[in-house]
Amino acid sequence: GDFTNSKILLRIKTRRDFLIYMVGTTVTSIAAGYLFSTVSQGHELDLETLCSLYPKNSRCQNYLPGNVALDRNSKTIDPNALLASTKPGIPVLVKGLPDGSVDYLIIKDGPQIAEYAINPICTHLGCTVEWNLEKNRFICPCHGSQYDSQGRVVRGPAKHSLPLITVVVKQNQVRLVEQKPAIDPR
Ligand code: FES
Repeated sequence: GDFTNSKILLRIKTRRDFLIYMVGTTVTSIAAGYLFSTVSQGHELDLETLCSLYPKNSRCQNYLPGNVALDRNSKTIDPNALLASTKPGIPVLVKGLPDGSVDYLIIKDGPQIAEYAINPICTHLGCTVEWNLEKNRFICPCHGSQYDSQGRVVRGPAKHSLPLITVVVKQNQVRLVEQKPAIDPR
């Protein structure tokens, strides 16, 4: 009857999940093994890849990823001077990526420069949003989408938060890395 059927179904489901699990773990361990052997042989992985995967590797001590962040006047940003002159919660416009785009550094309580910056490209149709100090929001000039100081959408038509890029503060430099942070902290 129904009971037997549901028992069979459950068995099939469990078996299927088990197979998926087996395939998944096999693929993962093959990938990990490949990566490990590549790293331990010390070749194939360029410094950029090595240091983005293993920033604590001894070869990465002096490695500076990405590009140095510049202020509005194209001057190199000094992290301590920046922290002394800004308030947590107010995004700071910077540039420096090869494509000439601007991004916004986030100053966290502490104060501290967050390990991600906001890329001000509206997720609706791609206009550049601007920080509005009075309203405490990023506002899109095209169709009025609004985002909070972390780039989270608070008013449409945009449906998604602003994209993030990675920020590394190292050797008294602020570096912009054109790559999503491993985890979106929002
Ligand atoms: Fe920003 Fe449409 S492009 S609201």
